[in-house]
Amino acid sequence: MRSRIIGTGSYTPEKVLTNFDMEKLVETSNDWIVARTGIEERRIAADDEVTSDLATKAAERALEMAGVTPEEIDVIVMGTITGDYPWPATACIVQAKLGAKNAYAYDISAACSGFLYALASADDFLRAGRGKKALVIGAEIFSRSCVDWTDRNTCVLFGDGAGAVVLEAQEGESGILSSHLHTDGNHLELLYQPGFGVQNKASVEGIEARLPFLKMQGNEVYKHAVRMLTEVSKEALKHNGYTSKDVGLFIPHQANMRILEATVKRLKLTEEQIFINVNKYGNTSAATIPIAMDEANRGGRLKAGDLLLMAAFGGGFTWGGTLVRW
Ligand code: ACO
Repeated sequence: MRSRIIGTGSYTPEKVLTNFDMEKLVETSNDWIVARTGIEERRIAADDEVTSDLATKAAERALEMAGVTPEEIDVIVMGTITGDYPWPATACIVQAKLGAKNAYAYDISAACSGFLYALASADDFLRAGRGKKALVIGAEIFSRSCVDWTDRNTCVLFGDGAGAVVLEAQEGESGILSSHLHTDGNHLELLYQPGFGVQNKASVEGIEARLPFLKMQGNEVYKHAVRMLTEVSKEALKHNGYTSKDVGLFIPHQANMRILEATVKRLKLTEEQIFINVNKYGNTSAATIPIAMDEANRGGRLKAGDLLLMAAFGGGFTWGGTLVRW
C-alpha cells in the first residue's frame, strides 16, 4: 500500500509585485535581485485575503482534479508559519471553509520544509491504515506577517501563495516511496522571527526593535541550504536504490536560483530534470513545492511512472527529501 497523489492544486494571489516595483520601496535594483536570486516578481495577497483563503482555493482545485468531495477527506495536514491566527491551527479554518466535516486537521510548523513534513505526516497516517484520503497543503502570506518591507536584505526574497495535494491509500507501484526528514535546532538565529512569542512577548519596545520581522544571515543560510538539499536528495535516492539519472523531475524548494543551480550541479542533474518557477513567485516558503508540483502536473511534466524527487530546507533548521513514483 502506498499514498498516491491523485490531485494537485495551487492558488497564487492576483497582485504582482515586480522587481521594478521593489525599486520604489527599498534601495535595490532589478539587476541585483535577478543576479543574486533569479526572482523577477512575486505575488502579494489582497488586503481581504488570509492564509486560509489561499489554502482553501488551492485545496478545492486539488479536490476537483482528484474527483474527491471534501466529506471524503479523513485528515488535513497543513504546512504554514504564517497562519490566520497564532492559534488555532489554520488547517481547522480550512476544514470549515471546505466543509470537510469528517476530517481532523492540524498545522505543521517547519518553515520552508513545512510541505514535505506535512506530506510525510499524512503518508504515515494513511500507511498506518487510519484513513483512506488526506489533504496536504502548504500556504503562506509572508508579505503581511514577517516580511520587513524596510529591509532590502530580505524583503525582495518572499511572496505569497498556496499549493495542495490529495493523497489516497492505494495498492500498486505508484505513490510516495519514502520521506527523509531532518532537524538541527542549533542554528535558530540564522533564520527566525524573534517576536512575538513567549521568548519575546508583545511590547511597544519590541515593535520598535522590529522583532516581529524575520531575521536572516543570508550567506550562512545559503551554505547550509545547498549542503542539506544535496545530502537529503542523495539519501532519498540511495534509500530506494536509484541515482540522479533515474530522476524524471526534481522539484526543490524554490528559495532562489543560485541555491537551485548549486544543488543541481552537485547532484549532477540536467536542466531538463529540474522544475523552476522561483522567477515568478519568489520564495513562498511551505507553498513553493506544491505550487511547483501543480504547475508541473498541469503542464504535462509529470507522467505516470516518472520518479519525482522533492527536497526542501528552511528555518529550524529543518530539511527533508521525498521520492514519489508518479
Ligand atoms: N539590493 C541591493 N543590494 C543588496 C540587497 C538588495 N535587495 N540586499 C543586500 N544587498 C547588499 C548588501 O547590503 C551588501 O552590501 P555591502 O557589501 O555594501 O554590505 C551586498 O548587497 C552583498 O550582500 P550579501 O548578503 O553578502 O549578498 P549575497 O551575495 O549573500 O546575497 C542573498 C544575498 C541573496 C540573500 C544570499 O545570501 C542568499 O541567497 N541566501 C540564501 C537565503 C535564502 O534564500 N533564504 C530564504 C529562506 S531559507 C530558504 O528558503 C532556504
